[in-house]
Amino acid sequence: MAEEIVARDLHKSFIVRDKMFGPRKQKTAVNRLTLSIPRGRVTGLLGLNGAGKTTTIKMISTLLRPTSGTVTVDGLDSVANARAVRGRLNLIAGGERMVYARMTGRENLHYFGRLYGVSTQLLRPRADELLDTVGLAEAADTLVERYSRGMTQRLAIARGLINDPAYLLLDEPTLGLDAPIARDLRRVIAKLVTEGKGILLTSHYLTEVEELCQHVYVIARGSHLVEGSPAVLTASAGLRRTVEVVVPRPDETIVGAASEFGERVGAPVTYLQRDDGSLVVSLSHTDDIAGPLVTAIVAAGGAVAGLTINNPSLEGAILALADATEPSPVRGGKTE
Ligand SMILES: Nc1ncnc2c1ncn2[C@@H]1O[C@H](COP(=O)(O)OP(=O)(O)O)[C@@H](O)[C@H]1O
Ligand SMILES: [Mg+2]
Repeated sequence: MAEEIVARDLHKSFIVRDKMFGPRKQKTAVNRLTLSIPRGRVTGLLGLNGAGKTTTIKMISTLLRPTSGTVTVDGLDSVANARAVRGRLNLIAGGERMVYARMTGRENLHYFGRLYGVSTQLLRPRADELLDTVGLAEAADTLVERYSRGMTQRLAIARGLINDPAYLLLDEPTLGLDAPIARDLRRVIAKLVTEGKGILLTSHYLTEVEELCQHVYVIARGSHLVEGSPAVLTASAGLRRTVEVVVPRPDETIVGAASEFGERVGAPVTYLQRDDGSLVVSLSHTDDIAGPLVTAIVAAGGAVAGLTINNPSLEGAILALADATEPSPVRGGKTE
């Protein structure tokens, strides 16, 4: 049996009314979505606001029943075997209150551990270990209402790990966190995946996705748009990276060689003369052409005083993909 979560043809529609007494309408939030979350990998789920990420995560974590389609966790059906499935996964949602303010950090972990059926024997040492992992050992016996936002969020991570889940579903876990805390959290995520946990991550912070995810699904309006590594996505969106080479003492031979290189790869070269006499040679291409461009300049007798590569962002890639496939604007969806 493959050790992975598989969502097949997952579908969720809600009955909504525009006005209080308006007509009922069906609204599709997730539309025949298929994806897999193997262990030992961070899988990204990306899409604009309202794309259906949270609804998908809620269905996978058994909080929401799919209208149709199935979720299996290590081969167990999540509706028929809901209890067993819940024992294998946990959910952490950023921005949502997932711990109790009137309890201490330790009390929270003991409480949620019992809720997940962790034996008392295991619970104490595991809570201590987790408090240590997330840097709350010293604040373990302080009421959560005294915690900073970052501390509360770190406790939420510990809470998410208290049942030692094989899979962790992270819905915008770093939302609203200060940069250093978000970075700590990314380190925890990277560590968990090397320990063999399967992680699903949704995030608005695309650098985070690029840093952590090995595989990414992009969805729009609840439907699958494209999947692959973060690099594959930017390439499939046809985004170019721009390379800038600073040549301190340019001459005609060097400029000729650079222009010839540009013609060969089919991208125009632009030149910018700087006040200090140096020349900035720029070229945009979907492939990584920084090395060959520098080589061409050096072969023509040029020196290189600086090199800048601007990689396209995943956010740009998603917007480009969504624009290319959506008949109507998808930007500016509802913010939760
Ligand atoms: N309980 C609900 N009732 C009605 N519509 C909902 C409900 N939950 C989500 N939706 C709608 O489903 C769509 C997807 O929402 P969501 O899964 O929260 O997207 P995301 O997390 O990608 O921003 C949105 O249009 C949202 O308004
Ligand atoms: Mg969401």
